[in-house]
Amino acid sequence: MLHRKVRKAVVPVAGLGTRVLPGTKVTPKELLNVVDRPILSYVVEEARAAGIEHIIFVTGRFKGAIEDYFDHQVELEAQLKAKGKTDILEAMLAELPRPGEMSFVRQMQPLGLGHAVWCARDLIGDEPFAVILPDMVMDAETPALKQAIDAHRQTGSNIIVVEAVPEDQTHQYGVVALETREGRLNRMTGMVEKPAKGTAPSNLIVSGRYILQPEIFDLLETQDRGAGGEIQLTDSMFRLMQTQSFHALEYDGVTYDCGDKIGLLRANVALALKRDDLKDAAREALSPLFS
Ligand code: UTP
Repeated sequence: MLHRKVRKAVVPVAGLGTRVLPGTKVTPKELLNVVDRPILSYVVEEARAAGIEHIIFVTGRFKGAIEDYFDHQVELEAQLKAKGKTDILEAMLAELPRPGEMSFVRQMQPLGLGHAVWCARDLIGDEPFAVILPDMVMDAETPALKQAIDAHRQTGSNIIVVEAVPEDQTHQYGVVALETREGRLNRMTGMVEKPAKGTAPSNLIVSGRYILQPEIFDLLETQDRGAGGEIQLTDSMFRLMQTQSFHALEYDGVTYDCGDKIGLLRANVALALKRDDLKDAAREALSPLFS
């Protein structure tokens, strides 16, 4: 089957980050550090490793630092060079986008994730695209987004990346319903937002990566406000499911919800413990805290 390549990713970063206030009062949530680089740095690395050629950030008021992060900091670069700190300088320069690789579009009010994605419609145009929720840092040998793109290539379907949680936790999340469950990639029949305890159709929750067909934009355009008074991406995906196929991909990896205090803490500890240059010192510093 021949499918159009997934070349573009929308990264919505216009939310208020209320769960990690006051840390996000003047710093965008997406620029909070995990170990020694911002959450967004992990996400951009994942998108590039998945073959994404154009990243579209949907930004909002007080998020200008995100655009600055992906630009030269001339004085700092000169200082690092003068001091011979070439390793960090090279790492910083390697992260900068190629000209035209990143675009920034403004969501002038945080009206919801669905509205944020809709703001990118003209930059996406008429092709399948990825949506990356940046506060979900996904640690995986094969990048989570690449797993999703491979699943899209295999099925031609819209893809929702999901992960298993204990059954007594499903009521806190969006949960997918499957036709049958065999292996990791399965056709979906529906989705339920925060199902009452004991009623969830599976233990697979919607995580932070999607591959969507461009027809979603027509539905987002007319989407009524849903849960929390916001324009929800889930509601339009549910409508798209009436005419197009959706598959849920149980990806192979570990998710850290860095939009949440404990998730952010967990990401910092876990990813430091995985780093060859830090793991021994991190273990030595942390283990007395648990004895
Ligand atoms: P979240 O609900 O996790 O982000 O939205 P939030 O609103 O920033 O966080 P809390 O709940 O107040 O702590 C998921 C993603 O969608 C973006 C957010 O920036 C986040 O990356 N988003 C959400 C928007 O870009 N615009 C919106 O109107 C809402």
